[in-house]
Amino acid sequence: MAGRSDAASSPIVVSVGGSVLLQEDRDAAFVGDLAELLRRVGRSRPTVVTVGGGRTAREYLRLGAELGLTHVELDEIGIDITRLHARLLAGRIGLPTASHPPLSVREAVEALRHASPVVLGGTEPGHTTDAVASLIAVRVRAARVVNATDVDALYDSDPRLNPGARRLESLDWPEFLAMLRRDAGGAPGANYPFDRLGAEALARAGIPLAIVAGRDLPNLEKALVGERFAGTSVRPRGGEAS
Ligand code: UTP
Repeated sequence: MAGRSDAASSPIVVSVGGSVLLQEDRDAAFVGDLAELLRRVGRSRPTVVTVGGGRTAREYLRLGAELGLTHVELDEIGIDITRLHARLLAGRIGLPTASHPPLSVREAVEALRHASPVVLGGTEPGHTTDAVASLIAVRVRAARVVNATDVDALYDSDPRLNPGARRLESLDWPEFLAMLRRDAGGAPGANYPFDRLGAEALARAGIPLAIVAGRDLPNLEKALVGERFAGTSVRPRGGEAS
């Protein structure tokens, strides 16, 4: 790939799903290995990591909803959970990564001037940590965003419900946005591969997105450094897969 944003030294951003971090399956060993990978990658180029809330957040959101909390209160609780998860990862990475997660896009960008990787959770109500990752990526003109998630790729329909679902290796932003808009109108609990606000921000900026299984660390590393990886590549129209 060509262009300024693809230089080997340009920033990269990775959105780690909370469901990747905590699966009640050798979580401590996984977080330790992920921290080691991010420390190594973060030393070689500016790296920002957002961490999601996963099932911990969903459990609190369910309880809060039963208690009649507002959407904004629920989002604020979700943000607190993502920040706890960010602390777990940041603490394991150690210095120079701050163990206090930055609280905003602006703070994260500022922190990246002094240390890499920067690790944070959510910022404000109304979106997910995928959107935080995307807004930071646009702000720092990142080479790519990697979504480290609990599925191995994007499918044209939910593979858990439809055994004939087709795995998508590569698509462009208009195709991906059309899928997101279609799914956003679907049944509650439909599988959203990436936050819509985040996707729209990346599409506008022409930043590629890689969707990979977060627990496969060798493959995640390939996606992070821009090598060929297993998963789904979303790219600007006419751009090469990255
Ligand atoms: P997540 O980023 O974890 O969303 O934020 P998710 O879709 O559940 O992703 P996984 O499962 O971790 O991959 C959890 C919740 O926290 C709130 C939202 O309510 C979100 O659903 N949140 C998070 C915000 O309101 N703002 C943020 O910036 C981040």
